[in-house]
Amino acid sequence: IMDGNGRWAKRRGLPRTAGHTEGEEALARLVRVAVRRNVGWLTVFGFSTENWTRPRAEVRHIVGLHKKLFGRVAELNELNVKVQWMGRPFDTPEARTPKFVQRAIRKAIADTANNTGMVLTVAFDYGSRAEIARAAKHARRASIASASGAVAGAITPHQLGAHLYDPNLPPVDVLVRTSGETRISNFMLWQSAGARVYFTDCSWPDFGAAEIDEAIALARPRSA
Ligand code: FPP
Repeated sequence: IMDGNGRWAKRRGLPRTAGHTEGEEALARLVRVAVRRNVGWLTVFGFSTENWTRPRAEVRHIVGLHKKLFGRVAELNELNVKVQWMGRPFDTPEARTPKFVQRAIRKAIADTANNTGMVLTVAFDYGSRAEIARAAKHARRASIASASGAVAGAITPHQLGAHLYDPNLPPVDVLVRTSGETRISNFMLWQSAGARVYFTDCSWPDFGAAEIDEAIALARPRSA
């Protein structure tokens, strides 16, 4: 959870948008470090379903940065990084991802699909409660349709998990939030059930190698 771009900028007498621009660079730098550290999955909260209420110019800037990020395909290919996205599905009435970002997302996913290294998932127009509610609806529908269970419509955690936006994401190992906020704010609530958490006062634009190493140190050792 990349927090503190606005405060980072304010401390420097810069507009909030400058903090987001620097935040995007920080993410690009961090992806490199994460790849070097052999991180398998990195999932970032780029834009929440609540973020649409921010001032229009700021929203436009952050949305533009996402288009730019999804356009950095050459870099991602060089790093063997596979890009994914999660959020409210484009074809649902609530979804708010603009068409030009949808195109950038589809292209980035297609252009990095053959990469075999780290999976970078960007959550955009994402909210965890909406994700879980939708998963419950779809899991229930599937359960009724199959009607082979003891109680048609009853669902297990396993069945619900299979209907999350990206069912292939592994459980969160370490959840990181920057900038002194010790809240989860509707991010991957289901997937973080067993996560260690790393809260740091460091602002997102300053989050670098030393910080990610602290977070990685909390992770369970990966089985060989
Ligand atoms: C929090 O800073 C960050 C966001 C609202 C998300 C946007 C993140 C970026 C632009 C980083 C780059 C990432 C991508 C995927 C392009 P804040 O505005 O909440 O900071 P504040 O709490 O100090 O105001």
